[in-house]
Amino acid sequence: RVVAVIMVGGPTKGTRFRPLSFNIPKPLFPLAGQPMVHHPISACKRVDCSIPIPNLAQVYLIGFYEEREFTLYVSSISSELKVPVRYLREDKPHGSAGGLYNFRDLIMEDDPVLIFYSSFSILSHIVLLNCDVCCNFPLPDMLEAHRRYGGMGTILVIKVSVYFFLQVSAETANQFGELVADPVTNELLHYTEKPETFVSDRINCGVYIFTPDIFTAIQGVSTQRKDRANLRRISSFEALQSATKLACARITCSKLSCSMWANTERTLPTDFVRLDQDILSPLAGKKQLYTYETLDFWEQIKTPGMSLKCSALYLAQFRFTSPHLLASGDGTKSATIIGDVYVHPSAKVHPTAKIGPNVSISANARVGAGVRLISCIILDDVEIKENAVVMHAIVGWKSSIGKWSRVQESREI
Ligand code: GDD
Repeated sequence: RVVAVIMVGGPTKGTRFRPLSFNIPKPLFPLAGQPMVHHPISACKRVDCSIPIPNLAQVYLIGFYEEREFTLYVSSISSELKVPVRYLREDKPHGSAGGLYNFRDLIMEDDPVLIFYSSFSILSHIVLLNCDVCCNFPLPDMLEAHRRYGGMGTILVIKVSVYFFLQVSAETANQFGELVADPVTNELLHYTEKPETFVSDRINCGVYIFTPDIFTAIQGVSTQRKDRANLRRISSFEALQSATKLACARITCSKLSCSMWANTERTLPTDFVRLDQDILSPLAGKKQLYTYETLDFWEQIKTPGMSLKCSALYLAQFRFTSPHLLASGDGTKSATIIGDVYVHPSAKVHPTAKIGPNVSISANARVGAGVRLISCIILDDVEIKENAVVMHAIVGWKSSIGKWSRVQESREI
């Protein structure tokens, strides 16, 4: 049995996504008309359809947003995709691996229905996905490669072009995990999270397949951290004792400041485990982790600007995965549609409007006569009045754009 886990973070994460994340949890922000998290969930569903006997038992969203923010979405997506989707709320952030470990008992537990088919009752794989990445999630191919490699985990990686790094070098290079893999076996040989200087042109895409052994690895990090914290407590106590004995103020000072020296590692709670720094880095080169390289599209969604680009990428993907979601513009009563466009069934678009490419129009939006929309996201309850032009922009919930207005980002995104 396979379980998918999507790490959705919480309100203290994703601050770069402001102001959009003030109104709605970032994972629910619409890209191509569907909540961001909808795309990885649908990809998990596609894995299930690609194998002869479906064995995707459950999709878990793990985060520390309020439970009620996900209740509606989780029940509607479960019935739409016919896969049980459940939101699991952490009481505090546990890190990208600690969050997974926090719910290990629930994830590992046997499903009473599937237990009937004994071979499906055993959890064989965990598909672990970051919520804020945009790609085609090549999970069936990754799963096949993972089985072939026989390791504990397989990481999706992408080669970024030299041009990519030249364009935004220092800024961009240190936003990802960079890694080196064996070109023949694909074993992960070296991994550095957000390095200061260039390490490799292969980056971690935040898409993984693990065996349940990942839980043992996370537990190992947590135990090690507890042991170190205990040791530190003992040694700082001993330092204090000897300093008192010597009654030497200078020694006391230096030893205390030394023991109180707080690097990030020391201040991390013992149950806070990061997948990248704490698991991937130390396990590299130990024949436990392997890589699967994608040649398809991949982007990270950290800023509102990136959501426009990712919305366009998902709209283009709909041509293959969900053509029924793309507006056709057929018929005399419908607007002129250019390229990939999504229009929510409750939105009203005037037949003389010209929409596209790369436009998504959300629920209850009203688009007036002669309006021109290019590469934009129109959110719920927006009104765009006659002859307005909106290009390369996100129009926020309930906004109203006046007649003949022109809304345009000053540079291409
Ligand atoms: N539930 C939960 N709890 N989720 C979390 C937590 C937590 O405490 N911390 C982070 N996450 C989620 C985020 O919402 C995101 O989906 C994912 O875990 C990774 O977030 P970060 O740990 O903040 O890493 P990052 O996004 O800056 O970088 C990671 O992803 C890149 C690809 O987008 C790293 O793995 C990079 O190496 C990688 O290139």
